Amino acid sequence: MKICKTKQELQEAIAERKNQNQSVSIGFVPTMGALHEGHLTLMRQAKQENDIVVCSIFVNPIQFNNKEDLAKYPRQIEQDIAQIDTICDICFTPTEQEMYPTAPQESYNFGSLETVMEGAMRPGHFNGVCIVVKRLFDLVQPDKAYFGEKDFQQLAIIRRMVQELNLPISICPVKIVRAEDGLALSSRNKRLSPQARALAPFIFQTLSQAKEKSTDMAPKQLEMWIARQFETQKAFSLEYAYVVDANTLQCIDKYEDAQSVIICIAVWLDNVRLIDNMFIK
Ligand code: PAJ
Repeated sequence: MKICKTKQELQEAIAERKNQNQSVSIGFVPTMGALHEGHLTLMRQAKQENDIVVCSIFVNPIQFNNKEDLAKYPRQIEQDIAQIDTICDICFTPTEQEMYPTAPQESYNFGSLETVMEGAMRPGHFNGVCIVVKRLFDLVQPDKAYFGEKDFQQLAIIRRMVQELNLPISICPVKIVRAEDGLALSSRNKRLSPQARALAPFIFQTLSQAKEKSTDMAPKQLEMWIARQFETQKAFSLEYAYVVDANTLQCIDKYEDAQSVIICIAVWLDNVRLIDNMFIK
């Protein structure tokens, strides 16, 4: 795997591959590092479906609206590189200065898709995500780009961005990868104390039970049922639990109102903010 620290090195490495074979297909996996099986699953899928895999590791400061979260975000570049050495062909690891030599001015707004859930709770977050992803797309010019369903709203917004800007990139969704006990893998899980980590599967258990209950509870009732489950667990503080149309991300009154329905939740545990989701239709 070739490691590129600058935009120029990255573009030269890609150009070299294209010189060898003009029709080379490129799969791209953007990440913020602290890699786990979830990230590796995206990269393996990219490897199966493309001639070469490019990934990026960059903790994007402009998508953090909380300074403490940015400061505490796990960074382990050597370990990350060792894990992906045999999966990826090129890994882009820019500095902040390289990515943003001047303060970025682009502005993206996807209306109702981003005024709910993560967008409502983390102002500016998706603008920061879109700025970095668009810049990375411009540099890599992939045929396919891989995003996890773990960050379901991010996936929906990136799909919309690609559609609105007519980018010739297919966005490939990847199912949530979970630990054996059901906890969705996340770089932030590393910040949980052993005690909190032991409690964390409650999130997946509650989503699974909610899915079963959806046959006899309307969406709003189900949201309230989830909130009550978290009230009984002192270690958790639920930020939101919404039953939404998986295409529009808007809340629904009846399951029949949407083709596809998903429960999305954000919850605090041990001062760490965790998100998860589950399709119920
Ligand atoms: P990061 O949190 O590092 O995630 C990189 C990719 O891995 C995202 O597409 C995310 O959805 C996916 N992913 C993370 N955990 C997963 C899991 N348990 N199962 C499946 N996929 C999982 O998301 C970001 O970085 C950033 O916002 C980024 C897109 C890189 C822009 O900075």
